[in-house]
Amino acid sequence: MKILAILGSPRKGNSEMLLNEAIKLCSEKNYEINLIKACELNISGCTACDGCKDTGECIIHDDMDKIYPLLREANRIIIASPIFFFGVPAQLKLIIDRCQCFWYEKYVLKRPIPEKEFKRKALIMLVGGMKKGQIGVTCSEATLKAFLRTINVSEHRTISYLGYEEPGSLLKNYEVINDLKNAVIELLEND
Ligand SMILES: Cc1cc2nc3c(=O)[nH]c(=O)nc-3n(C[C@H](O)[C@H](O)[C@H](O)COP(=O)(O)O)c2cc1C
Repeated sequence: MKILAILGSPRKGNSEMLLNEAIKLCSEKNYEINLIKACELNISGCTACDGCKDTGECIIHDDMDKIYPLLREANRIIIASPIFFFGVPAQLKLIIDRCQCFWYEKYVLKRPIPEKEFKRKALIMLVGGMKKGQIGVTCSEATLKAFLRTINVSEHRTISYLGYEEPGSLLKNYEVINDLKNAVIELLEND
């Protein structure tokens, strides 16, 4: 099974810690795990040029060239991200927007990314600083859901934590680790 882990945070903060814990749990089995840190990539924004319209391939060449095959081949995707202004950070949004080529491939050219021996499933983990920031979870999840369906991941679960501002504050909560364990076990189930 191939697992793709995507980090949306530009800092060594709460979502990175969550992702590291999830990766640790996945490492207990012999899975191939790839980690992408959005802020370390050199990615231009989608220009809506429609260059991918007839082929399903983006005509801009940058670090997305190495991300496309990872998105295509993953059986499981784990996304960990902070909430920024009720949405996902710009670095992660750049990756998402550049998946417009998959949108054309799936919905116009009718060639969705195939599910091979395993069903494609995802786990979304969101962290926000605002204690009453549910709207940030709703908006970020909506963006990530649109992204996942476009890359033909038909199932996902979202876990979210609000009221965590300081890096590391999240993992002081034992319930979080327990929650995370259960979510990862569910993600790795084969069905
Ligand atoms: C630019 C910026 C925008 C933010 N916007 C929100 C927001 O809309 N809602 C919220 O709950 N928290 C917001 N926060 C707080 C972060 O989500 C919070 O600090 C989170 O723990 C950061 O996650 P990280 O440690 O993984 O980077 C914002 C933080 C920054 C830097």
